[in-house]
Amino acid sequence: MEKPKQLIDKLEETSRLAKEEWTALIQGRNQEIAEYLFEKARYWQHKYFGNRIYTRGLIEFTNYCKNDCYYCGIRKSNKNAERYRLAQEQILECCQNGYELGFRTFVLQGGEDGWFTQEKLENIIRVVKSSYNDCAVTLSLGERSKESYEGLFRAGADRYLLRHETANEKHYRDLHPAKLSADRRKECLWNLKEIGYQTGTGFMVGSPGQTPEHLAEDMLFIRELEPQMVGIGPFVPHHDTPFAQEAGGTVELTLFMIGLLRVMLPDLLLPATTALGTIDPLGREKGVQAGANVVMPNLSPTSVRKKYELYDNKICTGDEAAECRNCLNRRMEKIGYQLVVDRGDYSRRDKGGELCTT
Ligand code: 5AD
Ligand code: FES
Repeated sequence: MEKPKQLIDKLEETSRLAKEEWTALIQGRNQEIAEYLFEKARYWQHKYFGNRIYTRGLIEFTNYCKNDCYYCGIRKSNKNAERYRLAQEQILECCQNGYELGFRTFVLQGGEDGWFTQEKLENIIRVVKSSYNDCAVTLSLGERSKESYEGLFRAGADRYLLRHETANEKHYRDLHPAKLSADRRKECLWNLKEIGYQTGTGFMVGSPGQTPEHLAEDMLFIRELEPQMVGIGPFVPHHDTPFAQEAGGTVELTLFMIGLLRVMLPDLLLPATTALGTIDPLGREKGVQAGANVVMPNLSPTSVRKKYELYDNKICTGDEAAECRNCLNRRMEKIGYQLVVDRGDYSRRDKGGELCTT
């Protein structure tokens, strides 16, 4: 087996590793190897994106959820979660506020909440798209039928985020109730891609029971799916879940995985996530320096922010959207990067590998 640095070179040259190679690389990492990786990650980040960091405005419009994932603070069994739904007018106010702050992508995220029927969702998408025709709408609404995804796409949605959480079927069952499966999750992702969504997937780093082999399988799955975006962040325990007493993921491993993703798929959209910023005050900056190129500040009304608590101590729950925007501006400038406000979408395939931002 080659040494970790040789494996990183091989990844850079061929954009692929075998499962055993991924495992060895992840297991064999140390600070020196990580620095070697991050240098390459920054090289590709700069080659494709310069010093530009894309922003997406997140609107968490419902925390009702019919699912019961063991890690998540808004799981249906958490009777202590204070539930809320934003009315359509409130969602539009968030968009308006975001638009004025320069956001050109709105991410509508929510639990799997049947109150928002297909018709209601399509209507919201149509209204947002017609009010802001220079904006992209991203959905993050969990697992739905292919027909439903098609309807939402026809209504104008451009992108969809659905983390696969873990590619390993057995590990998936350790994190979710029996009726959810990794296979079904992957099927949803393939459907989304086929329909034409720009698709994002991702996983938690350091979720209970996760091994380097599982992370190797995550990398293989992502290579196969070739999503446009991959969101990863550390697992952070939530006090009202079955995983309250479990250890959280580390900054160190999260950064290493970000670096690997950047080198594997150099033009990927890779957010420096809020969870990373939660476990380290400079987490998002470190994420960018490991290869991330997106931040997703919150546009939800401050009155509901704290209620969308997937994990403990989530940052920015008391801050207005404008404060987060300015804060991130400062943070990124301080490390030599610049927030950009355009839609920041592109398609690897359409442009034959040339980066196209519209
Ligand atoms: N810690 C970190 N991330 C979490 N998510 C849910 N619960 C937690 C937690 N306790 C992530 C999941 C989900 C995304 C919306 O948030 O990966 O896909
Ligand atoms: Fe929200 Fe810094 S990004 S306060």
